[in-house]
Amino acid sequence: MRIHELAKTLGIDSKELLVKLQSLNFPVKSHMSSVDDETAEIIKHEIAGLKEKEIEENVIEVDFPISVKDLALKLEKKPSELLSDLLKEGKFLNINQNLDEELAAQIAYKYKINLKKKPSREEVILNVESRDLKKRAPIVTLMGHIDHGKTSLLDYIRKSKIAEKESGGITQHTGAYQVALPKGKITFLDTPGHETFTAMRARGANITDAVILVVASDEGVKPQTEEALDHAKAANVPILVAITKMDKPNANPDMVKQQLSKLGLAPEDWGGKTTTVGVSAKTGQGIDELLELILLQAELLELKADYGRPAVGVVVEARMSKGKGPLVAILVREGVLKLGDCCVCGRYWGKIKAMTDDKASSVIEAQPSSAVEVLGLNGVPNPGDQLFVAPDEKSAKEIVERRREEDAKLKLKAPAHFKLEDLFKKVKEEHLKQLKVILKADVGGTLEAVEEALKKISHEEVELVLTHRGVGAINASDILLAEVTDAIVVGFKVTIDIQARDLAKQKGIEVRVYQIVYELIDDIKAGLEGLLAPHVKKIFVGRARIKTVFKLSKSGIIAGSIIEKGKMQRNLTCQLTRESKIIFEGKIQSLKRFKDDVREVAEGVECGISIGFNEVKEGDIIDAYSEELVTRRLE
Ligand code: GTP
Ligand code: MG
Repeated sequence: MRIHELAKTLGIDSKELLVKLQSLNFPVKSHMSSVDDETAEIIKHEIAGLKEKEIEENVIEVDFPISVKDLALKLEKKPSELLSDLLKEGKFLNINQNLDEELAAQIAYKYKINLKKKPSREEVILNVESRDLKKRAPIVTLMGHIDHGKTSLLDYIRKSKIAEKESGGITQHTGAYQVALPKGKITFLDTPGHETFTAMRARGANITDAVILVVASDEGVKPQTEEALDHAKAANVPILVAITKMDKPNANPDMVKQQLSKLGLAPEDWGGKTTTVGVSAKTGQGIDELLELILLQAELLELKADYGRPAVGVVVEARMSKGKGPLVAILVREGVLKLGDCCVCGRYWGKIKAMTDDKASSVIEAQPSSAVEVLGLNGVPNPGDQLFVAPDEKSAKEIVERRREEDAKLKLKAPAHFKLEDLFKKVKEEHLKQLKVILKADVGGTLEAVEEALKKISHEEVELVLTHRGVGAINASDILLAEVTDAIVVGFKVTIDIQARDLAKQKGIEVRVYQIVYELIDDIKAGLEGLLAPHVKKIFVGRARIKTVFKLSKSGIIAGSIIEKGKMQRNLTCQLTRESKIIFEGKIQSLKRFKDDVREVAEGVECGISIGFNEVKEGDIIDAYSEELVTRRLE
């Protein structure tokens, strides 16, 4: 084959090919020289590699999102050219529409350009090479059912009396405390509940190195213990169990161990793998052992931090303090945080004016894994927000400014999480291996039945994983867990509480509630098979609580109710809930204000509702829905 013919098949100019071959030391003299087939193949391969390398090195950095117009400018092409390229990809856009990173890079590649995302100011600041990597203290989170003794345990360890000072003995804030033991330090986080833990994770703050699951020896495992356990498991960190209140006469650690075994946490002394320690915050029994075990676990994890870099931390708690301004509890992750450091934290910035440790003493610096309260930020950030030290005030201000602008842009876009409708596509295109499900049912028996039925759905490519299962209404904790694990939430004969409903909407989490087990199974099967049929989507309209029940001679049983949220309209479909269980489904047959029939009643207003069900009771809840037919998205 002659060189000019080869150039043609490679789609490049023959002179260009000649130059390239000479640069690669191929002994060819002119474009009329010929090469054998084998050499031609080698040349093709070499040229392709060269082409790749050239593109690889031809980097242009841009900010995302980028519009077609702006991309054209960067690539020095006409916008119309890009539009026709996009059209070839089956994307019909106009010049002002934004392109995502993947699509923009694909287009740029055609023009031999390696399009990259310009690193943000903070990425440049945060992305430093490690300088002084040293051991750091483990960060351990206490989780468990309320009143099982988390704060008391921590108090005993710290020799303080926080639990006594708490209103009603309930922890309301996340506290971070560090204890120094002869063999090393440990940082503890005491959270008001696992929701807080998971909410922080949802914000990207995976701060805990291990979880201590607290179970009271007298009460044993409670639904909240199981929930906490699932949240801890989802975080993928080692779990130790502290069996508390061992001093109580009715302490029954064997019962707890049995329950733990059932939850897949078989204790070591029962031949399992889970470390359990019986402790008492009254007598101090087992506490030294627990601390030893935490330190031992930490050794195994070989936890390290870079003490030499500009500090980075996470907000565990923040509030406005009268007279002092925003007071922010920070857990330092990397670097040493110093008084006077200029910091960016969430949507705020400021110079650290004062810093106190967890015993309220003033300090001038804080090392990795230590907890401090800082003053000086110009606003109250959210728990889970990151704090980092900026090189100077100007860059701190600019970063915050930019974040606020991005917030404004993002507000217009709902986050996209996992949807059952997309399952088939994900299996095929993204090689999804697991479908994560959070399952809630009305009672234990049905929960098990649904679980069994779900387990039977086998699919060669996708494994069904129950991230969490529980009895009772779908709550905010379920939604948060779904958010961090990318699960769907499935309910069987249960309601969704209002807070969870709002959260799911805000976070774009799919929640499906079923009354018939076959429908539930069929939907998941259909999702797996890419056959999800259009379904009727219920859109929540309003909730009424029944205050009294009375009988009218003409209209039958009337539920005297107050509209707690949204509104009620005649003819909407509705369901009646008693103690989180749905006991009747029907339609709003009539709505009355005093004696008059009305079409609609607004929030906060009292009215009479008839749903054609005679067993309504005071305290029951009526949820009304409108219905919409949703077809499966085909993309
Ligand atoms: P929340 O913060 O509400 O989740 O509770 P908690 O888990 O922090 O429990 P807390 O430490 O506040 O303790 C709850 C109650 O149990 C208090 O009345 C404590 O005095 C009691 N208690 C805690 N630990 C022990 C113990 O080891 N022995 C006995 N006898 N009582 C304990
Ligand atoms: Mg507490």
